[in-house]
Amino acid sequence: MSSRNTIILAAGKGTRMKSKLYKVLHRVAGKTMVDHVLTQVEQTNMDEIVTVVGFGAEDVQHELGDRTKYVLQEQQLGTGDAVLKTEDILGDADGMTLIVSGDTPLFRAATLQKLFDYHEAKGDVGTVLTSIAPDPAGYGRIIRNDIGLVEKIVEQKDATVEEAAVDEINTGVYVFDNQALFKALHQVTNHNAQGEYYLTDVIGILKQAGQRVGAYRMSDFSESMGVNDRQALAEATKVMRKRINDAHMANGVTFIDPEHTYVDIDVKIGADTIIEPNVQLKGHTEVGEDCFIGANSEIRNGRIHDHVTVTSSLIEDSEMESGSNIGPMSHLRPQAHIGHDVHLGNFVEIKKANIGDRTKVGHLTYVGDATLGTDINVGCGVVFVNYDGVAKHETIVGDHTFIGSNSNLVAPLQVADHSFIAAGSTITKDVAFHDMAIARARQTNKPDYWDRLPHKPEDA
Ligand code: UD1
Ligand code: CA
Repeated sequence: MSSRNTIILAAGKGTRMKSKLYKVLHRVAGKTMVDHVLTQVEQTNMDEIVTVVGFGAEDVQHELGDRTKYVLQEQQLGTGDAVLKTEDILGDADGMTLIVSGDTPLFRAATLQKLFDYHEAKGDVGTVLTSIAPDPAGYGRIIRNDIGLVEKIVEQKDATVEEAAVDEINTGVYVFDNQALFKALHQVTNHNAQGEYYLTDVIGILKQAGQRVGAYRMSDFSESMGVNDRQALAEATKVMRKRINDAHMANGVTFIDPEHTYVDIDVKIGADTIIEPNVQLKGHTEVGEDCFIGANSEIRNGRIHDHVTVTSSLIEDSEMESGSNIGPMSHLRPQAHIGHDVHLGNFVEIKKANIGDRTKVGHLTYVGDATLGTDINVGCGVVFVNYDGVAKHETIVGDHTFIGSNSNLVAPLQVADHSFIAAGSTITKDVAFHDMAIARARQTNKPDYWDRLPHKPEDA
């Protein structure tokens, strides 16, 4: 049976990125470039996917896990050498092999599929995916003969002035008859400007041998963008962001200013949610329907249910149930779980805590390592004192309690249902059902104190 295989080239260091991080591990809209490529490849029904790793091999394998096989290219001798490293796994396979680079994150599965279909329909031995670049600098150029057939691909550094003027570029994506590919690869030399074994030479070699090589030209250059430096990374990110936001708008999400709204690729947003400018939704964040996410909010791996309002706040690894609201200027640190119809106002910080339904924490409050019941009112400026300098301790507050303003709840502590804490108290002992705890110095007033002052304030 004829098989379909893919080779992903991801062994290069990416010198032009000037980075400690290997090129293909740079992120575009929240996902590494190589993961973008693999995700699209996975949607095209492959028998075998092999990724060539070299620089940062362990990191790349850690990133992609067992979704692909790996081969190691110890020395980066060029893209042709990289493909040859897969020979042990793919060399004998009958069928077609797709080659893509880990640094072209914008390709869509549909385009790869079209390339396959075109290749199959034409019955050529190889097909290169090309596009017309507004600025072809840095790409390999597609050199066609008098009747428009592909003769060869010439790299920028090896190109004559005439060849460099060609604006049809090699996108770095190809489909080959598998066996013909490996046969030709053995004939590739490194006699060129970069002293590298170029995969692109395979085209000329096959052509010379009298085989038919075709080109499938795609209309949208931006999809084929290769990322070799930080400028291209920013450009690719811009293209990806537009794609992401357009898809959400098509699904019924309102963006006040889509060009200034930053949504990672794996984020989910429900219909009729409104998102204001400069919002960042990151990682695996999910936002429900009919939510309002106000300007400058940032949500990292948040789970936001329906009808939630977030006003200029930061939410990390936390969940807000439906009808709840937060902000402005509040912060959910990891493991905050906010119940239904909870009100969290301004300058509230919550960490590793469960806030029961309908509870209100309106102003200037820190809640850490705590479980709060339902229908609680937490006054202004309450501190859950959870840390004794060595260990963290827990506080449990029952339903329908009233915590007066400016109180400290020193953990470990239990405050029972329907109890009260008087404002300004520092509570160190448990509070029982229906009790009121008051823990502050008793007020004394000195009558006619003014008269006893030896020196009166001048302007009183
Ligand atoms: C390559 C193509 C060029 C094309 C462009 C499209 C060659 C010789 N040139 O150029 O025609 O227009 O892509 O984006 O193929 N890699 C390895 N091992 C190596 C060298 C590279 O695995 O020894 C990997 C890199 O990690 C990268 C990919 O192959 O993911 C492409 O290599 P890169 O150096 O970026 O090639 P370009 O100069 O962009
Ligand atoms: Ca490249």
